[in-house]
Amino acid sequence: MLSKEDNMLITRVGPGKPMGNVMRAYWLPMLLSSELPERDGRPLRVRVLGEDLIAFRDTRGNVGLLEEYCPHRGASLYFGRNEQCGLRCVYHGWKFEVSGRIADMPNEPPGSTFKDRIRAKAYPCVERNGVVWTYMGDKQESERPALPHFEWNLVPESRCYISKRLQECNWVQAYEGGIDSSHVSFLHSRLNPADFTGSPREHGMKYMAADTFPHYETVETPYGMMVGARRNAEPGYHYWRITQCMMPFYTILPSYGGDSPLSGHAWVPIDDVSTMVWTITWHPSRDLREDELEDMRHWSPERVGTSEGNGRHLPLDMYMEETSAPGSGWRPKPNKANDYMIDWNAQATKAFSGIPTIAMQDQAVQESMGPIYDRRKEHLGTADLAIIRMRRLWLNAAKGILERNMKPVGVEAPESYYIRSASMRLPVDADWVEEAARLTSANERTVHFI
Ligand code: FES
Ligand SMILES: [Fe+2]
Repeated sequence: MLSKEDNMLITRVGPGKPMGNVMRAYWLPMLLSSELPERDGRPLRVRVLGEDLIAFRDTRGNVGLLEEYCPHRGASLYFGRNEQCGLRCVYHGWKFEVSGRIADMPNEPPGSTFKDRIRAKAYPCVERNGVVWTYMGDKQESERPALPHFEWNLVPESRCYISKRLQECNWVQAYEGGIDSSHVSFLHSRLNPADFTGSPREHGMKYMAADTFPHYETVETPYGMMVGARRNAEPGYHYWRITQCMMPFYTILPSYGGDSPLSGHAWVPIDDVSTMVWTITWHPSRDLREDELEDMRHWSPERVGTSEGNGRHLPLDMYMEETSAPGSGWRPKPNKANDYMIDWNAQATKAFSGIPTIAMQDQAVQESMGPIYDRRKEHLGTADLAIIRMRRLWLNAAKGILERNMKPVGVEAPESYYIRSASMRLPVDADWVEEAARLTSANERTVHFI
């Protein structure tokens, strides 16, 4: 349970809000480079942390991110002419560079210095391996942190697949679903244990189906927190799933196999009531194979549980048609209005929920909690330990920034983000923290699993 005040504190991310300031202390993933394919191409509406912004790629290929409303008299820069290294407002022709500097003010007399005294609000952007990152804080260039060293964003693009989906609820309840290991035994499970075939991933699913009340432990780390969920395995052994919870809104999910890719999420708040969920699958040392990519782009209920990406990424044919609204191309076809396309027959005969895809199972239950869940009404049990601890990290960060202007956890440790998850079958007397610290290093040659 959280008080009304604490719930407000962690869920609100707009400008000036404590949690909003926490998020603005980090570089944030904003867009995929592929969303701005051409130099001088069409601008794009972007909404993030409650701010309406316009992204564009200029003549030199640099990405700009400007406040949507022109500093002259507030017309939308979405209609702007993207030409010759700047975005020109179509109302009176003021032209803005990616830095926010005004390059031209053609409705002022020659020699006027007016244009040098005004700037458009602009956020710096950096592109790395197909992802556009932005910094929305108030620190000058020399005081800004480095980009977090995520392995998924340091490997070549051919080793990483990213999809996004727009979720209509607050980011905290979405994130909490991502670190809640116990729901996997239910929401994402199948009814018949005979469906499990014996691959490493299937072993994991088998332990999860057989032991539905894992024991949880958490350890604080320089990037946030590591969660261990322990289930019974064969006699004398435990099955540990390690989830990485990285400030302010990332996860890395437990891995499934020596040569399988890894997956994780970023839960990027669009505003207080909607979230852009990034799903990221990468392989540390080789290109993703065509069959793996195929499994991520398409969904077949039969394949769920046999390959890393299947059902975790929203399949390509489940997206709505794109409009000019921010993020609209990432809206899933299954949604609240059609009950997420639940198949009641599948629920009766095969699957625990009957909602198509793991991604939409998560989205359905998280959106069904309402736009911003009132945490005075909840009853947290032992299975919710990771959630309780993560809230403490968020609350400490929000209060730290509010009361003492403290830098949130991880801002000054970008290199600590170079980490993986692991799934381990360990003897019952082994020290899971020691084993996990060794096996989750991204310097390890192989991804660790049972
Ligand atoms: S409102 Fe943009 S130039 Fe006048
Ligand atoms: Fe889930």
